[in-house]
Amino acid sequence: MIAQEELPMVAIPSMNDTHLEESLLVNKLESSAKDNDIEATLATLKELLEHTTLHFSKEENIMKESSFFEYNSHKAEHDRHLSELQSIIEYFDERRDPNAILAYINGNLKAWMIDHIKTMDTVMAKHAQSS
Ligand SMILES: [Fe+2]
Repeated sequence: MIAQEELPMVAIPSMNDTHLEESLLVNKLESSAKDNDIEATLATLKELLEHTTLHFSKEENIMKESSFFEYNSHKAEHDRHLSELQSIIEYFDERRDPNAILAYINGNLKAWMIDHIKTMDTVMAKHAQSS
């Protein structure tokens, strides 16, 4: 589970709201997987993919508007993450194994989210705020 206090705060409040929403979706996903609820897990995975896609495109627009110098590497990291999430969904759709989702959240996704916000998002929000 991701606690709200674990989320690093960035300089743009709307980004913090989006990050909070996303962490709540990840927590919902973890609960569905723990409950062994295959349909709810699949539905939440799709909801998370949709939310993340929109979240990243909002960030990419902010970066473009502020001519952010690290746009390409930040966008590449978003694309990598989205295709990873897509692969996880395909894998889960085939195998229907909630343990794979729990392993992904706790072995990768949670740490990735916190690290991405702490590094790339923090730098870009600071840049956009001051430009
Ligand atoms: Fe980002």
